[in-house]
Amino acid sequence: MAGLGQRISRVSTLTDPLIIRLKQAAEAARENAHAPYSNFRVGAALQDEQGRIFTGCNVENASYPLGTCAEAIALGAMVVAGGKVCTAILVIGGEGGLSPCGGCRQNIAELSRPDCMIYSVATDGTDLQSWRIEELLPAAFVLKR
Ligand code: THU
Repeated sequence: MAGLGQRISRVSTLTDPLIIRLKQAAEAARENAHAPYSNFRVGAALQDEQGRIFTGCNVENASYPLGTCAEAIALGAMVVAGGKVCTAILVIGGEGGLSPCGGCRQNIAELSRPDCMIYSVATDGTDLQSWRIEELLPAAFVLKR
C-alpha cells in the first residue's frame, strides 16, 4: 500500500531536532489511528509558522470514501488554532516507502510555501525520506505561491 511511485526523495538522518520532535509527536498520534478497514495506521505531525506542533491520525469510516488522512487532520488542527503556514510535516506508518497521497499533497500546498519539507518514516523508524512540497506536487493549483 505504499512505495509504488518513483523514488525522488533525499536520504536524511534522524538527527535533526525538528525531525526528531515531529517523529515523536506523529508516533503518539498514530497510536490513536482509527483504521479498522485498511489496518494501515498513520500518524502525522507538522510545525506551523509560530513553531507550534499539531498532530493527526487517519480516521477511517465504514463508508470507505469518507475516511480522512492523518495529514488532513493535522492541517485542520493547525487552522483551528489560527496557524497559517505549515513549514514542515512528517508522516509515519507502513513498512517503508510511505508518501502523502495526491489529495494530501494538494492540502499541504494550500497551507504552505513551495519549500515546505515533507518527511516520511516507516513505523519502525527506518526509511526516513524527505521532499519539498514543490517536488511532490509540481505546478500546483494554488491561489499564489
Ligand atoms: N493514509 C494517510 O493517512 N496518510 C498517508 O500519507 C497515506 C495514507 C491513510 C488513508 C487510509 O486510512 C490508510 O492510510 C490506507 O490508505
